Amino acid sequence: ELGEHRHYMHKEIFEQPQAVIDTLQGRITDSSVLVSAFGHRAESIFAEIENIQIIACGTSYHAGMVARYWFEDILGLPCSVEVASEFRYRHPVIRNKTLLVTISQSGETADTLAALREAKQQFPGIASLTICNAPESSLTRESNLVFLTHAGPEIGVASTKAFTTQLVALALLMTAIGQVQKRLTEQREKTIVHGLQKLPTLIQNALKHEETIKQIALSFADKTSALFLGRGTMFPIAMEGALKLKEISYIHAEAYPAGELKHGPLALIDEQIPVVAIAPKDELLEKLKSNLQEVKARGGQMIVFEDEGSCVSSDNDNFHVVKATTNVGRITAPITFNIPLQLLSYHVALIKGTDVDQPRNLAKSVTVE
Ligand code: F6R
Repeated sequence: ELGEHRHYMHKEIFEQPQAVIDTLQGRITDSSVLVSAFGHRAESIFAEIENIQIIACGTSYHAGMVARYWFEDILGLPCSVEVASEFRYRHPVIRNKTLLVTISQSGETADTLAALREAKQQFPGIASLTICNAPESSLTRESNLVFLTHAGPEIGVASTKAFTTQLVALALLMTAIGQVQKRLTEQREKTIVHGLQKLPTLIQNALKHEETIKQIALSFADKTSALFLGRGTMFPIAMEGALKLKEISYIHAEAYPAGELKHGPLALIDEQIPVVAIAPKDELLEKLKSNLQEVKARGGQMIVFEDEGSCVSSDNDNFHVVKATTNVGRITAPITFNIPLQLLSYHVALIKGTDVDQPRNLAKSVTVE
């Protein structure tokens, strides 16, 4: 079953172009998103909602965090995101006309399911939608609307292709709501759809950097801590990169929005801490570059994943710049930049000799709280 791959995680990382194709299949036309892909009640529910509340755990929560930037920035629709284990117990206030969105690979995560049940009990009549990879699951049974990610079975405990397809699903959801509420022009919708259609190729190209990343991974083997930096949607992608690294290589890793460095974490930086930064060419790039200068002056290894237009220049051997992609947009950038981070943690774990597919202390489906 593993074919040429040593681990399921590796196989699943390389299945991502296909997983995206399968998740888009039948959900879009050449220029628009099919609202009916979210269920026959989707159109009337989407027409009514005024806010989005996303609830999830772990990697699925990171997908929700990326989507929050999209909902608010592109649609101007208020969106909150919270981890299910907090949401379920803190008696949250949910505004009228909220769409409650759960995101889950397994559809059985105890906290996510309990949060949905709690919200339905407190606010009878609230509209719920789940983005889920398991067709027959508790979350799909208990939600009004269901969107299945077609990632296929994910065996590796560390989520990879499920995350990527969750982001695709969230982009489709954002676009479908934008279409129904006329918050997107036809042209904008077309641009988003074309971007999504390019994703399999963008991911394929990002995967080609494996050899370079393998070399970079060598420098992590003797480290005990790493810092991941990003701004905008790259902040949740940095969080996901840090989570993946701790999960499978057992190296402590933290993610920070780069603008927070000065407010504390800069004190941590020394030559023992590799710093990974994600630097797409966007309106925050110049700010990120000046954050990186602050790190460079104090630190050791720096690894920057950039795109064609970013032009972060490396001036010494401790500073690696990887042109991980070209031609990414607002939606495709976070999805594409996540790929090299997956490969980085995979190769660090290989070097450390950990059990990549079954990291210690973790279970694939967390059905108890
Ligand atoms: C990390 C990971 C976990 C899950 C989390 C939620 O690689 O896999 O953080 O994302 O346990 O699981 P689901 O998505 O099944 O609800």
